[in-house]
Amino acid sequence: MMKAWGIIVAVACVFVAAGVAEVPFRARSRPSLIPAQRPAVPVGQPVTIPTPLGLPPVPIPADNPPTKETIALGRRLFFDKLLSKDGTVSCASCHDPKHAFADPRRVSLGVNDTPGTRQGMVVVNAAYNLTQFWDGRVTTLEEQAAGPVANPVEMAHSLAGVERKLMGNPKYVKLFEEAWGPGRITYAMVAKSISSYERTLISGNSPFDRYFYGGDKTAMSESAIRGLKFYLNPSLKAANCVSCHRIDKDFATFTEEKFHNTGVAWDPEKNQVTDMGRFAVTGNPRQPGAFRVPTLRNIALTAPYMHNGSMKTLEEVIDFYAAGGRPNPFLSNDVSAKDWPEIPSGELDQAKKDLVEFMKALTGDVPPGAGPPEDQE
Ligand code: HEC
Ligand code: HEC
Repeated sequence: MMKAWGIIVAVACVFVAAGVAEVPFRARSRPSLIPAQRPAVPVGQPVTIPTPLGLPPVPIPADNPPTKETIALGRRLFFDKLLSKDGTVSCASCHDPKHAFADPRRVSLGVNDTPGTRQGMVVVNAAYNLTQFWDGRVTTLEEQAAGPVANPVEMAHSLAGVERKLMGNPKYVKLFEEAWGPGRITYAMVAKSISSYERTLISGNSPFDRYFYGGDKTAMSESAIRGLKFYLNPSLKAANCVSCHRIDKDFATFTEEKFHNTGVAWDPEKNQVTDMGRFAVTGNPRQPGAFRVPTLRNIALTAPYMHNGSMKTLEEVIDFYAAGGRPNPFLSNDVSAKDWPEIPSGELDQAKKDLVEFMKALTGDVPPGAGPPEDQE
């Protein structure tokens, strides 16, 4: 969309340069060139998003600085079922603040309770993602925010339909005017507002952060501390969770943002991949069944696990890794069972428990202002 505006401006400039424009440029171009679209530039009060312990500063795109007004509007839109065709589904239907903005169902259900094929993801801390979705098919939150609205299984609406509904609602007309200036409401403004709200959904300062970055040696239990050692242990290749779910010197997003096949999408009976994952985006022959490494922050709150919601508990996840993932032709070299047996068998159960305890120490603060606005349910 930015590109399109660039072209319009460029074309207008050519006219001026060629001396075609006899009347003043503004008077001439206003009615003819910009009636349908207008740039979505926030007009309100700029807001700085605080950085909690254990996380890097939230990346902000140059064309969408967060403001008090766009954040408040985005929050309202996120919880508003008006965004779906039949008024039954909002973003929060599948990203529920009562479940840390994840979906407790195995796969998400959209309008008419139509099941999707993938597990709802956590929107908290999604602002840090270099790509969005399990397969990373879009990069920015702004791009992402259009996807579910137009998806026939999720909200089944058209972006133009949402624009019309909002323009017919005097309360929204006023709120958009405060956030984006007067004039036509465009979906770009909807997407940008929701994205700015999502950038405030940041959760850090977990017991792990206080222990690891804050120097509070009492913040984690003995078991969780053992679990962390195990998690970091580079000599245990298979248990080297940190090679994919990263911890850096000054912060931890718990993902290296790459795509791996761990075997979750492999059906051993049919001998085939059940979801092509990243392959569908890149066509890379090594990537069938590969998915983006998800964050582990707040993981104890966001069951079920994996792209297809196939694992109910963290214990199940650990057993899966201890078995070396699920063997298949595309399995990542970094998932392997061969080093696990080096742990004396008498210590294996405790090691697994410690890893789970460590993951439970990744539950962070609830972001302020995360729930629906007071006058919305
Ligand atoms: C019907 C359920 C449903 C609805 C409604 C829904 N989502 Fe999602 N959301 C999902 C699922 C499922 C995924 C993962 C999909 C995939 O990877 O293909 C997802 C992924 C995401 C992600 C990516 C997170 C990440 O870590 O990559 C964001 C951000 C997001 N949704 C925001 C929204 C917003 C904003 C809305 C409202 C405009 C919305 N969702 C509506 C189910 C839903
Ligand atoms: C080779 C990279 C890699 C390694 C090593 C790895 N993971 Fe993962 N992890 C992934 C990917 C990719 C997924 C998503 C897979 C899917 O959904 O198909 C995932 C998913 C998970 C999930 C579920 C997250 C969610 O939101 O559903 C948990 C929990 C998890 N891993 C913990 C661990 C632990 C603990 C270790 C060490 C024992 C580990 N991982 C090692 C790449 C890795």
